[in-house]
Amino acid sequence: HESTPSSNAGSAERFTATGFILAAIGSSVGLGNMWKFPYITGKHGGAAFFLLFIICLIIVGLPILLAEMTVGRGGRGSAGTSFYNLTKKKYWSVFGVFSVITAFIIMSYYAVVAGWTLHYTVESFTGLLFQSGTDYKMKFVSFASGYTPILWQAVVMLITGVVLAKGVSGGIEKFNKILIPGFLIILIVLMFRALTLPGASTGVEFFLKPDFSKLDAESALIALGHAFFSLSLGMGCMLTYGSYVDKRQSLGAATLAIGFGDLVYALIAGLIIFPTVFSFGLEPGEGVGLAFMALPAAFSQMPFGFFFGGLFFALLAIAALTSAISILEVPIAFAMEKWKWPRKKAAIYVSSLCFLIGIPSAMSVGGLLGGFTPGGKTIFDWVDFVTAYIMMPLGGLVVTLFTGYAWKRAGEEAGLKGIGYRLWMVALRYVAPVLIILIFLYSVGLIRV
Ligand code: PFF
Repeated sequence: HESTPSSNAGSAERFTATGFILAAIGSSVGLGNMWKFPYITGKHGGAAFFLLFIICLIIVGLPILLAEMTVGRGGRGSAGTSFYNLTKKKYWSVFGVFSVITAFIIMSYYAVVAGWTLHYTVESFTGLLFQSGTDYKMKFVSFASGYTPILWQAVVMLITGVVLAKGVSGGIEKFNKILIPGFLIILIVLMFRALTLPGASTGVEFFLKPDFSKLDAESALIALGHAFFSLSLGMGCMLTYGSYVDKRQSLGAATLAIGFGDLVYALIAGLIIFPTVFSFGLEPGEGVGLAFMALPAAFSQMPFGFFFGGLFFALLAIAALTSAISILEVPIAFAMEKWKWPRKKAAIYVSSLCFLIGIPSAMSVGGLLGGFTPGGKTIFDWVDFVTAYIMMPLGGLVVTLFTGYAWKRAGEEAGLKGIGYRLWMVALRYVAPVLIILIFLYSVGLIRV
């Protein structure tokens, strides 16, 4: 079975060893860490929630991460065909296609938020964001309800499409190699700035000192869903990246590196955001607007705030773009394989279509569709909820069942033997599926606690 030769052009592309680790960290570290994680932590229990998230990350996230990369490398195809390539059973392709659809839908709204970060980066550095007497909440609302977000969403789709048109080593890998080191430098500068603000310790305490009475069943749902989102799981992304990995690379080591990287970035993001928010007497439970409403208010009050604010939003933008390219690669790899399109054509078609599908999300955060809230959620919130808390866990379930039960050679491909292999199987066969199913039933309202 050594290297399964395959006819599709996509699978002939390869990452270098460091290129792969950087790209995978670039994928996992994104708006999830820098934008979503702080506001859900603020809302669902602070430090206790953080702990719950770490547990989910370790017992469910890491085993599935390894499983996805293993399926990708073993199957050497896109998310749509790798399952089939390994078992030759048609019905597995159906599940594969499901994850391609999930990725496509996630990208449609991820690009909207990524667009906000670009807009805020430009507005910060030019000083436009920080005029005296600005109400930052109003400012965000009026920005989000206009048409400018669609323009920025288009810019994101364009950058992502161009990078992906250049391929795996010339596009994805190069982009990550340039941006990730810059990212780390900005992160450390900002953390230092945040931790030296007066009153920073209240924020650190909120983030790191657990109070378990703040947790409820919903916290568990959100923590598990976020472990998926944060590690880019359940939608064929790590699978697709895995299909470009060399046979000699250790996937176990890659799993640990990616998991550790993701956690450290979440930690640092929290250590930037909470001290800053608390230092200026602002609220951490703000919701999606936390980064865009509370933080500019804080930056506007500190010396050189436009500079630190600009750095902060540039950081968000970089994180968002390196993740966005990994999401969009899923449908692009699929289209190249399925319809034998050249990469460029696939990139143009997929990114254009995804842009169009994302417009309703862009217009529903206070915009034209802001008042359209079936079931109490805007389109934007629905897309986020359905993908992150229903489709991604289901996609993850498929991977665990496939690797735990259906594909017998997973251990060989993953390079695991003995106790390591047995633990991995316990996680994939029992722990992860049971937790995912419970959480799924809870999120669709079939069980109540
Ligand atoms: N992991 C990314 C984040 O935390 O922002 C988001 C993401 C990327 C989700 C890639 C899914 C994915 F396939």
